[in-house]
Parts: sequence; C-alpha cells; structure tokens
Amino acid sequence: MSSQLTRRDWLRASGLLAASFSLNRLSSAEAAMPNAPFVSSFTNEFAFADDPFDKMPKLKARLLANENPLGISQSAKEAIMKSAELGNRYAWMEFSQIKALIAPDEGVKPENIMMSPGSSDILMAAAEYFAKDGGTILTSAITYDDLLQRAQKFGAKIKAIPMTKDYKYDLPAIKAAITPDVKLVYIVNPNNPTGTIVPTAELEAFCKEIAPKVPVFIDEAYIDFYEPAERPKLGKLVADGQNVILARTFSKIHGFAGLRLGYAIAQPEMLKTLRGYTNGEFAVSITTLMAGIASYKDVAWQNHCRAENAKARAYTTKALADMGYEVIPSAANFILFPIRMKTKTFEGQMFGQGIGIQTREFNGQPFCRVSVGTMDEMAIFIDGFKKVVG
Ligand SMILES: Cc1ncc(COP(=O)(O)O)c(C=O)c1O
Repeated sequence: MSSQLTRRDWLRASGLLAASFSLNRLSSAEAAMPNAPFVSSFTNEFAFADDPFDKMPKLKARLLANENPLGISQSAKEAIMKSAELGNRYAWMEFSQIKALIAPDEGVKPENIMMSPGSSDILMAAAEYFAKDGGTILTSAITYDDLLQRAQKFGAKIKAIPMTKDYKYDLPAIKAAITPDVKLVYIVNPNNPTGTIVPTAELEAFCKEIAPKVPVFIDEAYIDFYEPAERPKLGKLVADGQNVILARTFSKIHGFAGLRLGYAIAQPEMLKTLRGYTNGEFAVSITTLMAGIASYKDVAWQNHCRAENAKARAYTTKALADMGYEVIPSAANFILFPIRMKTKTFEGQMFGQGIGIQTREFNGQPFCRVSVGTMDEMAIFIDGFKKVVG
C-alpha cells in the first residue's frame, strides 16, 4: 500500500473507518447501559497456542509481554548476589530503605507508599475492595483489564467510556458519566494496549475535581518511559490529601517482571485498607527488595533502557508507516496498529517464524500489539511481518 494514501483513504480501504465508527457507536451504547456486560478488550490474550509459555524459549523475538529486553541492571544483579547472605532473614529495614528513596522523588511521605510483588497485587486488591459492595467502576473502552475483570468477578459493573478518535482516554466524557453508584475511576496512563497518554495538566485537573467525590486509581505501569522532564508528578495530589491511588511497577524499565516488585502511592488509610486485601508487604522477598533498591538508584541504567526503547520504537513505527500501516503513536514499550488479516492467522504466521506478538480485536478490527524489543528483535519483527503481509 502506498504511503502516500491519506489516513482517510487508508481507513476507508481497510474498512477501519466503518469499524472505528461502529466502535464508538457500540461503546456509547454500552456506556449508556450501566448493566451491559463488560466485554474484555483482551480478546486474544495468549490465544495463539495451547501453551504459549512452552513456546517462549523457542522465540527469536519475544515481543508479547512488554518486558525489558535488556534485562536487569548490573547493579541489581550484584545486589541479588549479596542478598543470598540474608536469605534466612525476614526483610525489614529494606522496606524503609526503598520507601525512603522513592518518597522524596514523589513528594510524598514513606507512609504514603506500600510495596507489593508487582503492581498486579495492588490492582487485584483494589478490584476486590471497590467491588465488594457492588456499584460501578468507570474506565475507558480500550484499556488494561486485569483490575476490571477481577472487579467484575467480585460484583462490580464496569462502565467503559469510548476513547477519543486518537485512542486516548476521554476524560470529559468519563467525568460526565459519573453517577452516584461509581465506586472508582480507573485510568491507565500511558495506556495499555494503545500506548497513548493524556495531557498531564488535564489529568491533574480531572483528579482534583473528581477525587473529592470518587477515588481515582491511576495505573502508571509505563510511566518510566516518559522523558524525565515530562513525567507526570501526581504524587503531589496524594501529598495534598487527594483520594488518588497510583500503581507503579518495576516490571518495565527496571526489567523486574520475573523478580516481581511494585508499589502503590496513596493516603495511609487507603493503603491500610488495600493491604487487607493482599498478602501483606512481606510477600516481597529480600532479594527483590535489595535488587529494587540498587536498580532504583541506577538512573544511568534507566536512562539507557528508555533511550534504547525510544530508538527501537521509532525504527519500528517508521518501518510500519513506510509499509502503509497506521501506527498509534506510543509513549510506552509497545506499539498497537491495525492489521489486515484475521488475528489467529496473523499470530500463527508470526509465531511460525519465531516471533511472539499479541493481537487484539475491537469491534471486528484486528490489531497487532508488538512489544518494543532490541533493535535486532525489531528488525526480525519487521522482516517477519513483511513475509506475512506479502
Ligand atoms: C497497565 C498495566 N498495569 C499493570 C501491569 C502489571 O504488571 P506487574 O504485575 O508485572 O507489575 C501491567 C503488566 O503488563 C500493565 O500493562
């Protein structure tokens, strides 16, 4: 397809124009019906194989779980070695040490921070707590849905508001949809799977207005991919006493997906409540904590990972655009773009070449979500993609 086609021409040719209109229509209808069942956007999560994990070691390019392809820092590895000496001891002061490092950066007090084995635990705790008496969780139509799926199991309804045309959270529409039964607003920024961000000033203003009425949960799993100068600093809202909960993870820029470390920033009372729905902070091992402390201090490694991610993301975005694909601009370590074949066929052919990706389907339009790997992996991805699409 010629890259000279306009966006509208391409959308029309690919049928995406109709799909995007119907997406908005359907989602509006769903949004208008608080009782409508929440339809997961993760239609193809690991649907590509009976046992995807069995296939992982054989992949040439592992681009399906938004991991850090560069691994953990040398400083974290050294801390892990040291931690072996302390494996017989319960972690204790390591919790205070890591909170003392994080708190000043966020402009909060250590008591505003709760550590967890990955941020998933915080999402799950919030899901249970906010869903236990029923009510509604308000969010966006295309987003990360672990918290939402869990909340639904525990009795909440999910009201998912359509995204803006450029695949961003529509904060004014979310605000307009707040009703007395809304227990929580869930925002993912940068969003997964779209990779989009909402302007920081808009998000801040939204929180200031909404949080006094309804708690706002902001899942900032991908925040470390912002350039430091542009990074939202929503900890100050927590410091000001707002009922805002921030969820963070070391799984992304720090490469701790397997080590498991995350934290929540919120009011101490809220943390106490949420802690009651977790296994407690001691679920985090001393090994992970010591590695986390080392990695957090290793700003040079984080800068390196961010820069490499930006480079490989720009390369992939351009290569796809040159082939006539409309990539949604991403601020994270993955890219979402519409494809022109069935998700299963696409996945099968990519996996057949040893390239692990994920797909999504929104109202009949298939998308590829590819994590940003190393430059070599992205070259393998582009090469394999060209073979699949011809
Ligand atoms: C938006 C978002 N939130 C939370 C998580 C959970 O990450 P973890 O439990 O590894 O911290 C993920 C994982 O990919 C994610 O994409």
